Amino acid sequence: MVVSGTKIAEEISCSRSEVWRLIQQLRGLGVEVAGHPATGYQLRSVPDLLLPEIVRPLLRGTIFENEIHHFYKIGSTNTATMAAAAAGAPEGSVFLAEQQTAGRGRGSNVWHSPRSSGIYCSVILRPVLPPSDVLVLSLAAGLAVQDAIRQIDSEMNLDLKWPNDLLVDGKKVCGILTEMNAEATRVRFIVVGIGINVNQVSFPDGLDAISLRQATGREWSRVELAAALLKSLDREYREIVATPGARGSILRRFAENSSWVQGKSVSVAENGGSMQGVTEGLDDRGFLRVRTAKGLQTMLSGTVRAK
Ligand code: BTN
Repeated sequence: MVVSGTKIAEEISCSRSEVWRLIQQLRGLGVEVAGHPATGYQLRSVPDLLLPEIVRPLLRGTIFENEIHHFYKIGSTNTATMAAAAAGAPEGSVFLAEQQTAGRGRGSNVWHSPRSSGIYCSVILRPVLPPSDVLVLSLAAGLAVQDAIRQIDSEMNLDLKWPNDLLVDGKKVCGILTEMNAEATRVRFIVVGIGINVNQVSFPDGLDAISLRQATGREWSRVELAAALLKSLDREYREIVATPGARGSILRRFAENSSWVQGKSVSVAENGGSMQGVTEGLDDRGFLRVRTAKGLQTMLSGTVRAK
């Protein structure tokens, strides 16, 4: 339907030149509007933006429904969320961005974050847990992403790679950066930052990455996926804080959904060195055990690669 600038101006009580200015502003935000003042305007498509007004109604009853912050462009949602948490932002605060200019990955990696094609999301949690339980929480975040993607497409072949990668066909579709502020015995707050490659059609050379769109040949709704993700994360988190046996269930489910936890030949790069071996399950805190020439070793961090 084509609507004249005069009609729009009447309806929203402004001048025709103001309508033109607003249309240009909408176009800048990704709304596709055809036409100009002489021909009238036609709305072609509304972008899949992660706006609080759109996401909030989908998160009713979760800890994430109240404080949703959205940015068109930000350095890193994790950096902003860590600062907000340090300044007292409540548990359940969510920071969503359309684009990150300094997206961070684990270690000193960067996270490629082009505009409106991925999900860049960080949340604040304030669990009453010792820091030693945070790895399990981070593993649970991986399970939450896997569950959210499968809710939308049950056919997706997803593999969790310890500690926090989600792979499709051996390529990375999601990464998680969990950061915390803690005393030796008590967590003050945790920020879980999740990056999902959703609708990218290409990646810079050298990135072993894949998007859901590349994997399935169709475009995904970021709004639908972000809502499914935050609902799954809410469920996992409530279980961890409320159920004494939750840790066991998370470790078991992680192992069941990962080809990396048991019997995989890997090399692990850690602290500048590297070791080779075969994986032998997770210990009870969620660290990866690897049988090496020097015996059974526990990986405390590091990057795991197939050998
Ligand atoms: C990794 O695989 O190394 C972790 C990647 C984490 C990326 C997400 S995107 C949202 C949040 N903000 C960041 O700067 N990083 C995380």
